[in-house]
Amino acid sequence: KKTVAKRDFLTLLDYSKEEILYFIEEAFKLEENPIQPLLKGKTLAMIFEKSSTRTRVSFETGMLQLGGHALFLSSQDLQLGRGEPISDTAKVLSGYVDGIMIRTFGHDKIEELAKHATIPVINGLTDLFHPCQALADLKTIYRLKGKFEGVKTAYLGDGNNVAHSLMIAAAKVGMDFSIGCPKGYEPEQWVVEEALKIAKETGATISIVNDPIEAVKDADILYTDVWASMGQESEQQERIIAFKGYQVNDELVKHAKSDYHFLHCLPAHREEEVTASIIDGEHSAVFEQAENRLHVQKALLKELLS
Ligand code: CP
Ligand code: NVA
Repeated sequence: KKTVAKRDFLTLLDYSKEEILYFIEEAFKLEENPIQPLLKGKTLAMIFEKSSTRTRVSFETGMLQLGGHALFLSSQDLQLGRGEPISDTAKVLSGYVDGIMIRTFGHDKIEELAKHATIPVINGLTDLFHPCQALADLKTIYRLKGKFEGVKTAYLGDGNNVAHSLMIAAAKVGMDFSIGCPKGYEPEQWVVEEALKIAKETGATISIVNDPIEAVKDADILYTDVWASMGQESEQQERIIAFKGYQVNDELVKHAKSDYHFLHCLPAHREEEVTASIIDGEHSAVFEQAENRLHVQKALLKELLS
């Protein structure tokens, strides 16, 4: 059993600018030299209470490439799904494996898991945050722009988990960030306040506006996500109406820099939050971005599990 305090990865708020930049740097190195037996004999338990393509496959492949093993655990098959307490699950898994990655609903659940686990817990997405995604986003932006300072990233749409993590990531590395979202769909106020506090130190600017054109003005990076996240399926119709003016399309991108890049965490709904002309067009880097999940998470696993 571990004798030094374990480190969780639940939100980027818990990590310094230097640590975040270190993960990105390590990710570039791992991309160059992907197969390294750094986690030989180690196992990662991966609990999924929601669907996933990228998170599951990148974590599972990443563990294998580092010489370790990953277990896919659907909450439907775990006793957790039949009501076993999350605290018991945490204590039991701590006796078998070296880390837990979980995708769940309420952020309080992952905090509960982390509190009772004696091994690192990694956030594979909660309703509040998606920090692994933001790390991949940063690596992608760095590869595209070669810097963070002076780069403007504009996020359009729902002030959701992806928006929260991207905003904190931007604030941490000193990147300018604007979000254009309809009234009532802004990011959570306390998250905005945290980002503003961090931005004050790093020199980033953070702005939350309701006008999509103002948000994307002179942006280097345009980013969007689905309008209805997992767990919000019943709100799909009302959200399509509320987000109507926030679609990333040929008209809106005219207000960004002419050499803008388009990002999306995926999965995407073509002709809802983004048109096919944009996501499948020459400015899009969404598949490089998706691949970067693998590289940044390996850097994270290497750091947390070894
Ligand atoms: N972006 C992302 O987390 O994708 P998945 O839902 O497929 O894991
Ligand atoms: N906001 C989306 C992201 C999916 C990767 C969701 O939570 O469903």
